[in-house]
Amino acid sequence: MHEIVPGLIYAPGYLTREEQHDLVADLREAVKAAPLFTPRMPRTGKEFSVRMTNCGALGWVSDRENGYRYQPTHPDTGAPWPAIPRLAQRAWDDLAPYKHPPEACLVNFYDASARMGLHQDRDENDFDAPVVSLSLGDTCLFRIGGTERKAPTKSFKLQSGDAMMLSGPARLAFHGVDRIMGGTSTLLPQGGRLNLTLRRVNKA
Ligand code: SIN
Ligand code: MN
Repeated sequence: MHEIVPGLIYAPGYLTREEQHDLVADLREAVKAAPLFTPRMPRTGKEFSVRMTNCGALGWVSDRENGYRYQPTHPDTGAPWPAIPRLAQRAWDDLAPYKHPPEACLVNFYDASARMGLHQDRDENDFDAPVVSLSLGDTCLFRIGGTERKAPTKSFKLQSGDAMMLSGPARLAFHGVDRIMGGTSTLLPQGGRLNLTLRRVNKA
């Protein structure tokens, strides 16, 4: 494990290839129950380039009217979110220095042209809990900055099977995905990148 900036813990190759396949199989089932949706920016209604779904008691959603929030049901189907996949829960248990379980597992799907602008994860009520991330499929260029938007940033690649955690001084760091490097992984037959982020939303 490496600490790329204080509090950003990077565990390259955390999942074996077999585990990556197992996790993708669980995510295929999850997406049948909770289809990918396209979130929209608050106020402007502009679509994200990333499509999303969630697992767990709560899921992160966003739309024009009500903005960023967590809710217990899918925004289109109204159904509860499916359970957090076993290997995602294990990543939290292995990596998070936090005794309570995650409540949300946001699943982001990036096609080759998708990206995510610099932002902070601050819709949770408990910043003592880390955010744990798993990457599957194509490599991305990930960017990490400081707790102020203007702070200098660094970028590094996240590859299929890598785990990463934003904790402590990096918990509220600005971060984003600059680009997807198409064709860098054979894990997902149609290409693209999946990212899972495990989050604790409420104070225990
Ligand atoms: C996120 O910040 O929600 C996703 C980060 C990633 O895709 O690696
Ligand atoms: Mn984020």
